[in-house]
Amino acid sequence: MSTDATTTTGSDQPLEERVNNRSQRPSSEAFKTFMASSWAPDTSELPGADGVAPYAAARRAAVSARFPGERLVIPAGPLKVRSNDTDYRFRPHSGFAHLTGLGLDHEPDAVLVMEPTDEGAGDNGSNHNATLYFSPMAGRDTEEFYSNARTGEFWIGPRPTLGLLQARLGLPTADLTQLEVAITKNAGVVELGGMRVRLLRDVDMNCDALVDTSRINTGVDLEVSDSLDGELTEALSEIRLVKDAWEIDEMKKSVAATINGFHDVVRSLDRALTHPRGERVVEGAFFARAREEGNDLGYDTIAASGNNATVLHWINNNGTVNDGELLLLDAGVEAESLYTADVTRTLPVNGTYTDVQRKIYQAVLDAADAAFAVAKPGTKFRDLHGAAIKVLAENLDAWGLLPVSLEEALSPEGQQHRRWMPHGTSHHLGLDVHDCAQAKAELYLDGVLEEGMVFTIEPGLYFKNEDLAVPEEYRGIGVRIEDDVLITADGCVNLSAALPRTPEAVEAWMAEIRNS
Ligand code: GLY
Ligand code: MN
Ligand code: MN
Repeated sequence: MSTDATTTTGSDQPLEERVNNRSQRPSSEAFKTFMASSWAPDTSELPGADGVAPYAAARRAAVSARFPGERLVIPAGPLKVRSNDTDYRFRPHSGFAHLTGLGLDHEPDAVLVMEPTDEGAGDNGSNHNATLYFSPMAGRDTEEFYSNARTGEFWIGPRPTLGLLQARLGLPTADLTQLEVAITKNAGVVELGGMRVRLLRDVDMNCDALVDTSRINTGVDLEVSDSLDGELTEALSEIRLVKDAWEIDEMKKSVAATINGFHDVVRSLDRALTHPRGERVVEGAFFARAREEGNDLGYDTIAASGNNATVLHWINNNGTVNDGELLLLDAGVEAESLYTADVTRTLPVNGTYTDVQRKIYQAVLDAADAAFAVAKPGTKFRDLHGAAIKVLAENLDAWGLLPVSLEEALSPEGQQHRRWMPHGTSHHLGLDVHDCAQAKAELYLDGVLEEGMVFTIEPGLYFKNEDLAVPEEYRGIGVRIEDDVLITADGCVNLSAALPRTPEAVEAWMAEIRNS
C-alpha cells in the first residue's frame, strides 16, 4: 500500500518523495470533496478516568517534589522505522508511560510538560501543573484521514482526541503545535531570571533540538544542562524502584499470562522434538499465547535447548530440541500497560531429568532459595547475589570443579566459580525488564530492599560443550531458574510461584500437561 500522491517524477524528484511513486490515489478535487463528506458524526461519550490516573498523578507529584521551580519535559518518543516506510509497533519511553499511565500505542511524538507553579500550588498540592501535548486524531474531513499512513484513521484506525485522553488521564491536553512555545517560553539562564528547563534526553530528537536551540539562543550552558538533564533521567528511574499497588497488580497479570505461555510451550514439545527448528516452535508457542491474550513480550524469548542453554542471551532460537536435553526457556509477557514479567524454567525435554541434570538443577534451586531467604526489607540488594552465589560455589567445590579452595574462590581476588555463572542474580523489574537502570548505585546495588520493590532472582550454572574445566558429563548443560519477587512488609512473595520449581514438581506438571 502506498501513502501519498506523487507530485514530481524523473531524476529531479527528491529521493524522499519516491516512496510514493507507487501511489495511485486520485488527486482530483471531486475525489477529495467526496472523501471528506458523508461520515457519521462521532456520538460516543467520553470515558471516565483510567484506573491508573490517580497513581500516575502521585508519581508526577514525586517528580515534582525533586525539581521545584523548573520546567520538566518528558517525551514519549517517535515512531521508530523498522525498514523503509514501515514502523515498529509504537511503545512509549517507560519514563513517559510511568508518569502518564499510557501504555501500548500511546502516543507517538507526545510530550508531557510539567510547568512549575508556586510551591504546593500545583496539581494535587505539588509544585507543577502537567499538560500532555500530542497530535490528536485528524477529522474525517481532512486529507490526513485517508492520506497519512502513519497517523490517518483510514490507515491505522482511530486515535485519541484531545478530549479523550484528557478524560482518561485526568490531565489537561493540548495540541502538539503548541509544544514549542510551551517548552521555550521564558526559558533561559536562571541567574538572569530565566526558567530552567530539564529534558528527558535521547528519547525524541525533535525535543532535544528544540531545547538545545532554545538554550543556545538564551545563553544557557549546554554542558551544565546535560548533567542537569541527567538528573531528571536518574530521578525517573529512581521513583520506579518502589512499585505502587496498581503496578503490582499489572505485574501479577503479566506473570500469570507468562505462566500460561509456559504451559503452552510444554504442550508444543512433541512438535518441537520433530521439527528442524524446534526452538522456534517453542518460541512461537509462547508468543502465540501472549498475543492471543492481548499481550506482547517484554524482551525476545530465549528458547535454548542443550548446549544453546549455556549462551546467556540465546535469542536465535534456531536449534533443534532433542530427547534427553534440557530446554531453558526465559520468557516474559508484557501487558498492554507495558509491565513485564521475566521468568525462566529449565525443563527436561522428555519430561524427566537425568541424574546429572537433576544434581545441577538442584544446586541452582538451592541458590535461588538462599536468595529468597534473605529477600526482605532491610537486606542490601547486593546481598541477594551474595547469598545465591555462595551456594553455587559450595556445590562447585563439592563436585571438585574449583581450581582453588572454596575460601579462595569466594574472596574478591578469586571468584573462579563465576566462570559458570558470569551474570548477576537479580535486577529490578517493571516497565523495563531491566528496570530502574539509571538509578544511582547507592539506591540500586547498594540500596536496601523496601516493601513494594519487584525484582528477579535468577541464579544459573552453564557448562559449555567446549568447557574442558569440567568432566564430560556436565558439558552441554545450562540451567537457570528465574522468579519474580515482590518485597512485602516482612518478607517477600514469589509472584511466579505458580510455575513449578522443584525437579519433582516440574516433572509432574509436564506429565499432567502432556497427558491431558
Ligand atoms: N531475560 C533477561 C534476563 O533475565 O535478565
Ligand atoms: Mn532477568
Ligand atoms: Mn530472564
